[in-house]
Amino acid sequence: MTFLRCIGCGRDHPLQEIRYECEACSNLLEVTHDLDALKRQRDGASWRRLFDSRLGAASGIHQSGVWRYHELILPDLPADRVVTRPEGNTNLYRSARLERESGTASVHIKHEGENPTLSFKDRGMTAGVSFARFIGVDLVACASTGDTSAAMAAYAAQAEGMRGVVVLPRGKISLEQLSQPIASGALTVSLPADFDTCIRLLREVCRRRPVYLLNSVNPVRIEGQKSIAYETAQQLGWQPPDWVVVPVGNAGNISAIGKGFFDLHALGLIERVPRLLGAQPEAAAPLARAHREGYRERVRVKAGETAATAIRIGDPVSYDKAVAAVRRSNGAFLSATEPEIMDAKALVDATGIYICPNSATAVAGFLKARRDGIIGAGDRVVIVATAHGCKFSQATIDYHGGRQDGVVPARANRIIELDADAGALERFLSSPAAATSGKVAP
Ligand code: F0G
Repeated sequence: MTFLRCIGCGRDHPLQEIRYECEACSNLLEVTHDLDALKRQRDGASWRRLFDSRLGAASGIHQSGVWRYHELILPDLPADRVVTRPEGNTNLYRSARLERESGTASVHIKHEGENPTLSFKDRGMTAGVSFARFIGVDLVACASTGDTSAAMAAYAAQAEGMRGVVVLPRGKISLEQLSQPIASGALTVSLPADFDTCIRLLREVCRRRPVYLLNSVNPVRIEGQKSIAYETAQQLGWQPPDWVVVPVGNAGNISAIGKGFFDLHALGLIERVPRLLGAQPEAAAPLARAHREGYRERVRVKAGETAATAIRIGDPVSYDKAVAAVRRSNGAFLSATEPEIMDAKALVDATGIYICPNSATAVAGFLKARRDGIIGAGDRVVIVATAHGCKFSQATIDYHGGRQDGVVPARANRIIELDADAGALERFLSSPAAATSGKVAP
């Protein structure tokens, strides 16, 4: 039996009730499975064998890197109600470059930008939209910094009779992200406001109208996103890393990844839970500040400008869940500066793994944690890249063609403009500049 449990007072609510906060104390709700029943069903080794047997499934919902773990995601949702692309099954790349750059034993990048709409949000949306359809909802909505809206719109478009409404902060998301809900036929609304305002207004409307909210305050979404932890553990032969580094905005994803690892541990699939490191841009880093201050009080900030626009959030909705998960894992939150973020992006991009500025915030956070000794030389680290670089072309072009504090950025790969003339091209190709331009060792 699965419930919605309040993370504050522990009160249970039925899963099928449309609610996002506790009736008694207004805290966030969390989907709670009957772990004892799941333990009685199988032991850890048997769960591992079951999930391994589904790898490479040629048809059906087990093709999905979310629904491969159906029993741990939404066990009561019938397979024939699932709306799936399929999503997940993203690569876990070993990064020799980051290992060398940082002097760390093992560094992998879990590239969630390889999902159908190019971000990890598809994992939450397959759960959220499937559940919405199951309970008979036909109007779903979200506020977004770009990726949630892209995913929601694409999954709603697959569900017969379902309409999606997206509310976006005007001028604060990339062109590629903006194009996605428009293309998928969602009702696309833009407000002259930041994301924190967009979500506050939408939550207000959802309390009054029969609109199903699919932001990560919706606990069903978190169940889908947990699969990042499951898939990572499975790809590492069920030997979890020492650290998992995640970029943090609204703080749903780091909560979900934590929940995923705690599930696996409780059910005996893994022997220990990795430590979680949440990374934020300095311009929007309430959780990094809270960590520095020993979590004395809830921190809210007004988010400033950052290239990591998807995590430009000053008042994260899943704040309490994220703090609980990070503290329970003995982890940390920290922040990175704009040059650190964009240099880290260029470093990873130049190895042929194209990531976005939000993902690069996690890479920069990792490098900083390694320099500060929070992460040790012998540690095994997984960095979650949350979206694809192709969603943020302008940030890439601005970095490589622009300046940082008046100077050419450390890893800039300038475009070479030549006359339309074979001789000019030939002369350039045999010049010393051609031999070094943009070159980074793999
Ligand atoms: N990375 C990317 C690329 C994102 O789009 C987001 C969140 C995050 C990281 C942070 O995840 O919010 O769970 O802490 N984007 C949301 C959106 C807010 O509307 O697309 P989080």
